Amino acid sequence: MQVAIDGPASAGKSTVAKIIAKRLSYIYIDTGAMYRACTVIAKNHNLDYGDEKGILEAVASDGIEFKTEGGEQLVYSAGKDISLEIRTPEISANVSQVSALPGVREEMVSLQRKMAGSTNVVMDGRDIGTTVLPNAEVKIFLVASARSRAERRLLDLKQRGIKSDQTVEEIEADIAARDYKDSHRAVSPLKKADDAVEIDTTNMTIEEVVQSILEQIQKKL
Ligand code: C5P
Repeated sequence: MQVAIDGPASAGKSTVAKIIAKRLSYIYIDTGAMYRACTVIAKNHNLDYGDEKGILEAVASDGIEFKTEGGEQLVYSAGKDISLEIRTPEISANVSQVSALPGVREEMVSLQRKMAGSTNVVMDGRDIGTTVLPNAEVKIFLVASARSRAERRLLDLKQRGIKSDQTVEEIEADIAARDYKDSHRAVSPLKKADDAVEIDTTNMTIEEVVQSILEQIQKKL
C-alpha cells in the first residue's frame, strides 16, 4: 500500500502522514525534509542556491540520513543532527530555489523511490502522486486557506522551539511566495494528481483529516 499526500506548504501533510503511518505501522517518508536538507548542505558549503553541480557534489559527499530516536524522526547530514536547522526561516525561504534544480530533483526522487521500496509507505510532499509514486493506491491532495496555514506554521515553529520574530502576516506572505514558486517550476511542479482526492483541512481537526484519509485507505485494502 502506497499512500501519497501532497499539497501546499503547511496544509498539515506531515502531521497527518505521521499519525497514519504510526497507526498502520507503515513507514513515513518526509520528502520536504530531504529538499530542506539539500538546502542546509548548500548553505554549509557556502554554495549559491542555484549551483546545481556544487550542491549535488556536496549532497553526495555529506549524505542525508533519517534516524528515529524516541519515536521522533531526525535528519542527519555529515554525522550532524540538522533536524532543527532544516526548519529555520532562512532554509524555508531558499528551499524552493534548490528544489527547482532538475538534477537535485532527479537525485531525491530516486532516493525516495528506493526508500519506499515495496513496503507499505506514507509519503508526503509536492509531487508524490504525480511523479514519485504515480501508481500509489491512495492519493490525497490537502489544501487549507493561506491564513490558517500561516497560523499552523507559527504554532509549529513555537512547538519545535525555533525562534522567529515574524508576524502571522509575514509568514502568510512567505508561504504564498513558496507555493507560487513550487507551483510554477518547470520540473514536477506542485499539482493535484488527476486521481487524487482533495481534502480542505481549513475547518477540520487533525483527527477528522486522519479519519478521512483512513477511509480512503480502507476502500483500497
Ligand atoms: O513540505 P515542506 O514544506 O517541508 O517542503 C519544503 C520545500 O521542499 C517545498 O516548499 C518545496 O520547494 C520542496 N519540496 C518539493 N517536492 C517535494 C517536497 C518538498 O519540491 N516532494
